[in-house]
Amino acid sequence: TSVETFYEQVGGEETFRRIVARFYQEVAADELLRPLYPEEDLGPAEERLRLFLVQYWGGPHTYSDQRGHPRLRMRHAPFKIGPAERDAWLRCMRIAVDEENLAPEHREQLWSYLEMAAHSMVNSWF
Ligand code: HEM
Repeated sequence: TSVETFYEQVGGEETFRRIVARFYQEVAADELLRPLYPEEDLGPAEERLRLFLVQYWGGPHTYSDQRGHPRLRMRHAPFKIGPAERDAWLRCMRIAVDEENLAPEHREQLWSYLEMAAHSMVNSWF
């Protein structure tokens, strides 16, 4: 009776789990991005990004139950994110998203959001 959310349409939690895991596999090997992450274990960061995206796209609100309001620009303020870091982040995410066999309209919708969000996270221009 209810309209499916984007989260459900693309396959729910498993889909986001795979995308974010693949993304962090790339981050772990990226010499520009890896040093930005304060923890040696990328697992907790992976979980936070997954829970955030799940919530954003209409899945369970576990992210905010655990972390409160996202305030993503504020949470990224401690890290120097310039155009190079943004592009590296998007490169990793592009690989992860492309490896999912999403319907073209879903892929396009997800990618537009990620690109916009990554651009909005830039906090340093030198
Ligand atoms: C956290 C880097 C863009 C979502 C973090 C952290 C770093 C980082 C270093 C801290 C790791 C941790 O959670 O402990 C970057 C860089 C970006 C970027 C270099 C390049 C533009 C984005 C975008 C999103 C996002 C576009 C959302 C679509 C998150 C979330 C957290 C996080 C949800 C955890 C926040 C929390 O609850 O503490 N990011 N990020 N990031 N990032 Fe990003």
